[in-house]
Amino acid sequence: MKKIGVFTSGGDAPGMNAALRAVVRGCIYYGIEVYGIRYGYKGMIEGDIIPLNSHSVSNIIQRAGTVLKSARCQEFREPEGRKKAFDNLKKFGIDALIAIGGDGTFTGAKVFFEEHAIPVIGIPGTIDNDIYGTDKTIGFDTAVNTALSAVDNIRDTADSHDRVFFIEVMGRDSGYIAIQSGIGGGAEMVMVPETKTTINEVIEALQKGWSRSKTSSIVVIAEGDEEGNAFEISEKVKARVKDLKDIRVTILGHVQRGGTPTAQDRILASRLGLSAVEGLRDGKSGVMVGVINDEVTFTSFGDSITKQKPLNKDLIRMVEILSI
Ligand code: F6P
Repeated sequence: MKKIGVFTSGGDAPGMNAALRAVVRGCIYYGIEVYGIRYGYKGMIEGDIIPLNSHSVSNIIQRAGTVLKSARCQEFREPEGRKKAFDNLKKFGIDALIAIGGDGTFTGAKVFFEEHAIPVIGIPGTIDNDIYGTDKTIGFDTAVNTALSAVDNIRDTADSHDRVFFIEVMGRDSGYIAIQSGIGGGAEMVMVPETKTTINEVIEALQKGWSRSKTSSIVVIAEGDEEGNAFEISEKVKARVKDLKDIRVTILGHVQRGGTPTAQDRILASRLGLSAVEGLRDGKSGVMVGVINDEVTFTSFGDSITKQKPLNKDLIRMVEILSI
């Protein structure tokens, strides 16, 4: 293995730059040439490929987003697109890949690896923390802290005006951001796709609080919750409760994708970046590198994409007990 190509793909996540820096510096340390593929699979197809050196990744460890840029690419789903991409890699002499992204990125990497037999290792970078084979994905910790600080801010207003706030957080089909920001922010209720919460249960939790003289309440809702988005849920609650206190809805949205990466995200990203390079050197391929119980682990792309990462049910139980 002489030349590694590295790219970021799918939604950006704080800490991706720290992972890139570790890949580049790791390659240099082991005497491997390294190329950046800009805009993910799109750049691979278009030949948007640049050489990277130690200075290319200076001063980026603290920056969110991805300096390599990212894109979602339809063309790579077709064999012709992947063939173009492979021909470009050959042109540059790239003989191994490191893919930083989420499950969509790994789905592409798996097909590509099976079709063209190019060694590839994935690094989990997504705020959703929905990837099997790692305790945390890069960006999750930062996103939770961003959501948490928004919940704290909103609580000030909820308290001053005796209001009920429905706050929607990101996570796609996963409730990780919701449960952690909800517990950290002392929410009265958290709604996640992993466990069904009925509208009646939400109402019950709110009423219990009011009966104990609570004047304000916060309900944190994961965007993938099956009862609908925060507006729909607030309407359903309104329709069933007479004399409901003042209600407001806040959708946090993409504010959760940016912001200075936390120490945890930078350290995780640095560790995964270097381990990916070392994994390729050891002959690993078709796998994602993760950290489980503080140990670096490698999980097949197949498992990382298809296996469900369970949400700790104990956390859900805690919300109910602690919000009395
Ligand atoms: O996967 C990260 C994520 O931010 C999800 O939480 C969200 O559902 C989605 O991406 C939003 O995607 P986009 O940035 O393309 O709107």
